[in-house]
Formats: sequence, C-alpha cells, structure tokens
Amino acid sequence: MANSTTSHRPPVIAPSMLKCDFGNLNGEIERLERAGSNWLHWDVMDGHFVPNMSYGAMVIQSVRPRTKAFFEAHLMISDPAKYLDDYLKAGCDAITFHIEAVPEPLELLRRIKAAGRKAGLAINPCTPSGWIEPFLAECDLVLVMSVEPGFGGQKFKPEVLDKAKALKSKLSPHALLSIDGGIAAPTIASAAAAGCQIFVAGSAIFDEPDYQKAIQNLEQLANVEN
Ligand code: DX5
Ligand code: ZN
Repeated sequence: MANSTTSHRPPVIAPSMLKCDFGNLNGEIERLERAGSNWLHWDVMDGHFVPNMSYGAMVIQSVRPRTKAFFEAHLMISDPAKYLDDYLKAGCDAITFHIEAVPEPLELLRRIKAAGRKAGLAINPCTPSGWIEPFLAECDLVLVMSVEPGFGGQKFKPEVLDKAKALKSKLSPHALLSIDGGIAAPTIASAAAAGCQIFVAGSAIFDEPDYQKAIQNLEQLANVEN
C-alpha cells in the first residue's frame, strides 16, 4: 500500500544513547534537548543477542521524569517478551524488538500496542525483508539496521537501502521507517532518498563538540523529497 501520509514528515534525528557520557547522563539529555532533539533511541543490549551489554529498563526509568522527549527502546535482547513490562513501566513510548529474536512477533507487537505504546520491528542487515513483511500491518515503526547490531561507530552498509525502499512501499500510512547504524553526513541523504524518516545517530552526534550543529546539519541533509 503506497505510504502517502507520513512521507512528507520532516526528518527526525534520534540520538542513539550508546555513545553518550553515562557519567553525566542527565547533562547529556539536557544538552540534547537544548540541541533540539525530542526522540531518544535507547540501545538496550543483553550480551547474548548481541556481543555487547549496555543498560536495562532501570536506567531508562531513572531519567524518564527528567525529560519530555519521546523514548524509543531498541531492544537488542534475546527474550523481549520476558522483559516487556519493565520497559512499559520505565515509560518507553515506543518499543522496538528484533525479528531475529522473535520470528513470530504478532503477539508481542499487540501487547505493546495494547499498552498504548508504539510497536516497532527491527531487522538486521542480512535479514531479508520477507521476514517482517507479513507483520507490517501491526507495526508503527520499522527499524532497518544499517550495521550489525551491538556497537556504535561502525561503517554504514548501503546495501540495506534497497530493503528500506521495498519496506517503505509496504508500510501502513501511519507507520514510520527508521534506519540505524553509521548514519552521518555522508550517508544520511541516501537513507532519506530510500524513504527513511527517523535517523538514528550515535557517533555523528556524540563525537561532535556541538550537538545542535551536528543535529541541524543532519536534518538539512536528510531533507530530501523521497
Ligand atoms: C547499534 C545500535 C545503534 C548504534 C548507532 O547496535 O543499535 O543505534 O549505537 O551508532 P552509530 O550512529 O555510531 O552507528
Ligand atoms: Zn539502535
């Protein structure tokens, strides 16, 4: 079904909360807010689904009252159903989990929506789009990984753009297409041209001295007619 309603949305730059200064998390969130960011992408890793560990619901819950930003939890964990209630309680507005961890995602997608949150499905670079196509009607968000999940600072994989384009044409009108991994000045325009609307960025923001400049630059580069 052609996606007409959200294709003209202004691009959203979503800082990936993996390379931020966790010794000053509150200050980082304030800095991001001052820089104009209102969608935080929390990268949750369990050391099992991905070869790295980050943080859990407790950390997200601890900063929830400090900001009005939209919280998206990107669950790179093997058993998201087991921990879903923790992320709901933590105040996440969107919960994205991996099709590779939950090949039959309908029940979990519906649990997230029944809780009044946005439900997202993430797909790894090597996973064919056919894995998630049967479930797109239940998705508010599709997260196309443009790196292997687990670490920030990796190289963008342009070969995922064809998959992003194919998925965009099949999304429901209200649903959003997001891309995650290696998004930076040299890569973001191609992701936007493929129909992506939410751009997760870690190094391209946190490696920069001026978060506002970095975010505004990415927004301008993403503002392409797709
Ligand atoms: C990787 C995470 C990404 C990553 C993005 O598993 O899902 O969100 O932190 O970081 P950059 O933008 O540096 O690739
Ligand atoms: Zn992520």
